[in-house]
Amino acid sequence: MTSIQPGGSLLTRRRRLLGPSLSLSYREPLHIVRGEGAYLYDADGRQYLDCVNNVAHVGHAHPRVVEAGIAQMRLLNTNTRYLHETVVAYAERLTALLPGHLEVAYFTNSGSEANELALRLARTATGRPDVATVDVAYHGNTQRLVEISPYKFNGPGGAGRRDDVQVVPLPDPYRGRHRGAGAGVAEAYLSESRAVLDERAAAGHAAGAVIAEAIPSVAGQIVPPPGWLAGLFDAGRAHGAVPIADEVQVGFGRVGADMWAFGAQGARPDIVTMGKPIGNGHPLGAVVTTRAIADAFANGMEYFNTFGGNPVSAAIGLAVLGVIADEGLQEHARVTGARLLGGLRELQADHVSIGDVRGVGLFVGFELVRDRATRDPHAALASELVNRAAARGVLLSTDGPDHNVIKIKPPMVFSGGDADRLVETVDAVLTELRSSQEQAGTALGDSRGGRIDSMS
Ligand SMILES: Cc1ncc(COP(=O)(O)O)c(C=O)c1O
Repeated sequence: MTSIQPGGSLLTRRRRLLGPSLSLSYREPLHIVRGEGAYLYDADGRQYLDCVNNVAHVGHAHPRVVEAGIAQMRLLNTNTRYLHETVVAYAERLTALLPGHLEVAYFTNSGSEANELALRLARTATGRPDVATVDVAYHGNTQRLVEISPYKFNGPGGAGRRDDVQVVPLPDPYRGRHRGAGAGVAEAYLSESRAVLDERAAAGHAAGAVIAEAIPSVAGQIVPPPGWLAGLFDAGRAHGAVPIADEVQVGFGRVGADMWAFGAQGARPDIVTMGKPIGNGHPLGAVVTTRAIADAFANGMEYFNTFGGNPVSAAIGLAVLGVIADEGLQEHARVTGARLLGGLRELQADHVSIGDVRGVGLFVGFELVRDRATRDPHAALASELVNRAAARGVLLSTDGPDHNVIKIKPPMVFSGGDADRLVETVDAVLTELRSSQEQAGTALGDSRGGRIDSMS
């Protein structure tokens, strides 16, 4: 929905003025002007249930977070070269949420900046530039992060894998080379991963860092077999690589069982990176690491980040942590996520196009397939579902290398009733599409597809 303005519609002006590689979601782009809790409102006052935005973690425009930012903005905003109580208090509160060996914090302005810094820390500590990364991963928008993100370098416009990047297999129990929940599945992926790391190490290119998400997100909300992340980090450690857990998408209680997705996998990273939910929409990121790595990085070159760790960001970050604790959002994610997964699994019984339902807490996905036996991905159906759900006021998104995974990662205040509404909407749209296809005697063709992916 766009408004008529001098110089053309909002869409026309945007297209003229903003870089053309920026994308817009949905066939009918939305003009969102306000958010509250798990809801967004467009310029015409229409309400949408936000099932995608894991940035507005404690809810869109949470009053406590907004007030914290306003109060600090009224007083002061400056860089970290002055003593300030709030940034130290924030570092104390954040590091207290992590295992004891992760005790030193750096603040940044985005997840990309956090991952970029993490790579610099690991490279300075080990002296080795090679990075091991998981297939189909995305870690950010800088040059080096694109170089270690197979999602980008193997995608449209990508330049392919560089020699200093080692790619280990994506542990996808539904579509990968090793499938199912059996005890040997993690080990099968790990033995292939070790082979990649060993081979490069033998050639004199041992990795200095191994970076992974505990639940690979843009790869399609992949829930790896238990023990995979711990095993991958151990495989890296065997070559002296620093294990980095990217919690930009999955951190801050979203998985329910633990504050961190790496914790739920029993893994022990030496660097953790954070972004998106950490500031509830305010640009903020963080890196937390060990004393030894931080000391190695303090080699005489100052790390200066003009905006990183400013008092306004720190006040907002503190407020977010306060809300997560006081509103019991981690436990809420566990309970509501289980209800959502249950509802989607019931739907799977009625809709053969739902090939797989997976997730942990409020980080959920389901795959649309043309045929359950062959698991042939159905991107066109995923795209159609997302667009039709948006028209019904429910915002979803697609992801995964085949663009057929519906990803669900709503603000954590998403209620049980919201989860039911999401399930009912998916049911209604898939039923509608099935009956229209039956009447027309056709299956949705790929030409009706189109990407709706968004990494936020
Ligand atoms: C897993 C992961 N890491 C890092 C990033 C980069 O974060 P940002 O976009 O805040 O720079 C993203 C962004 O989508 C991400 O999904």
